[in-house]
Amino acid sequence: MKFTAICALFAVAVVGSPTPPPNDRSNTGRTQRILLNSRSTAANSSKVFDPRTVWEQLGFAYRKYSATMGAYRRNTGSPHPLSSRFDVRSVAKRTTNGSVPLVNYNADLWYGEIEVGTPPKPFTVVFDTGSSDLFLPSTTCSVGCARHTQYDPSASSSAKDTGQPFVLMYGAGETAGEEYVDDVFVGGYEAKDQTVGAAWAYSPEFSKDAFPPDGLSGLAFPEISEFEGSPLFQTLAESGELPQSVIGFKLSTTPGDSEMVIGGTNTNLYRSDTLTYVPVTNKGYWQVEIDAISRLGQEVVESQAAPAIIDTGTTFVITSYSIAQSYYANISGATAHTEGTDTYWTIPCDTINSTVPTFTFGKRAFNVSAQTYNLGPDVPSGDCLAGIAASSEMEFTIVGDVYLQNVYSVFDYANATVGFAELT
Ligand SMILES: *[C@@H]1O[C@H](CO)[C@@H](O)[C@H](O)[C@H]1NC(C)=O
Ligand SMILES: *[C@@H]1O[C@H](CO)[C@@H](O)[C@H](O)[C@H]1NC(C)=O
Ligand SMILES: *[C@@H]1O[C@H](CO)[C@@H](O)[C@H](O)[C@H]1NC(C)=O
Ligand SMILES: *[C@@H]1O[C@H](CO)[C@@H](O)[C@H](O)[C@H]1NC(C)=O
Ligand SMILES: *[C@@H]1O[C@H](CO)[C@@H](O)[C@H](O)[C@H]1NC(C)=O
Ligand SMILES: *[C@@H]1O[C@H](CO)[C@@H](O)[C@H](O)[C@H]1NC(C)=O
Repeated sequence: MKFTAICALFAVAVVGSPTPPPNDRSNTGRTQRILLNSRSTAANSSKVFDPRTVWEQLGFAYRKYSATMGAYRRNTGSPHPLSSRFDVRSVAKRTTNGSVPLVNYNADLWYGEIEVGTPPKPFTVVFDTGSSDLFLPSTTCSVGCARHTQYDPSASSSAKDTGQPFVLMYGAGETAGEEYVDDVFVGGYEAKDQTVGAAWAYSPEFSKDAFPPDGLSGLAFPEISEFEGSPLFQTLAESGELPQSVIGFKLSTTPGDSEMVIGGTNTNLYRSDTLTYVPVTNKGYWQVEIDAISRLGQEVVESQAAPAIIDTGTTFVITSYSIAQSYYANISGATAHTEGTDTYWTIPCDTINSTVPTFTFGKRAFNVSAQTYNLGPDVPSGDCLAGIAASSEMEFTIVGDVYLQNVYSVFDYANATVGFAELT
């Protein structure tokens, strides 16, 4: 039996039509912009946070990395290089007791459209650079898929059943189904014979109310895939059709302002002179080295030259306890809240905006705005939640949407690099 994690990711997506319209604003002829919906915008959720959702987010991230590291080991025969910095022994004790009210989950996520099958049918998916598998609810789904658009392989002349079952671990529940291959259209390109997990059951985290998109599409490397076939980004990169094997993202909570582009970047959205690439240090995740996290020009010593994973599917920046503790140590009124191995910090709302971090990649400093770092007030204390959380089980940094909303990000598959640029 196979286990995959998918997680609290939240990212993007959209659709590619087989015949793209000509009003393409990206820098390539065929590429379409994929407009992304932001969940918080759609749901107009308030910025008041519920601490339970923070614990839940941190738990999801832990389970996602636990499962994907397991997949890496099975796929490559070697432990993931970061597994020595990851405490796998605590997987069992992290199992949720089921008391977390999922409806309160208000972290952000971005999603858009893909089309699957012949004739192509539209679905919405989150695109997650922190995992590698694509799944959708199928028409045979009997649990948890109500009101989602469901994939019907029998209605697609290009669908082939591989006969391979899968189980994806997600939070308290499991998502199970069967792997098919079918043609997937995304951003104006076709991924032929793409592996698609057709789910028979969705856990409550994926119910329509908790999770507006239909499915999820991982955009990382095959080393962390649970499925037999090639992950979507590899299929696209190997199709030979992309002008460049890159995906560009802009994530924003402003309606209509988020998009993903495949095969190029939208040069209107960033300052080209600031585009800075860093090499992927180990294929699997989009894993790079961060030069440092700093504040007011002071680098957190522990963060220098530390491993970092660029993950559109994680809301927070989650780092090691030592990095986070040093970061917050000099901030007046910063209060740590710890449960088990996870910690988040709150800071008085009238001063939190002046405590924002800067992340340096490839020697270029990228500021994080108060708007994305300040996650809003905690009702009991009146203090505001800061966007850098910590896990004492992960000695690496997951760079999620708190940072990624501040930059244009470029994932280059063939060159195995990640680029960041200042937004225009
Ligand atoms: C959005 O805001 C409106 C007006 O404040 C409110 O009536 C509605 O319930 C909100 N929608 C959601 C999904 O929270
Ligand atoms: C489950 O865990 C939460 C904290 O994570 C705790 O408040 C609650 O009492 C626990 N419920 C049970 C049934 O153990
Ligand atoms: C925190 O304060 C100490 C002592 O004043 C200083 O050495 C260090 O650089 C500061 N760190 C940050 C991140 O500001
Ligand atoms: C980043 O923040 C620093 C400190 O506030 C500021 O001096 C610098 O101009 C900012 N950089 C950009 C690109 O906004
Ligand atoms: C802090 O920044 C947020 C987001 O930009 C803003 O809504 C809020 O009013 C600011 N708070 C203060 C005290 O300036
Ligand atoms: C990526 O690699 C291709 C050739 O493999 C090269 O033409 C291109 O310039 C590279 N892009 C970057 C940003 O390094």
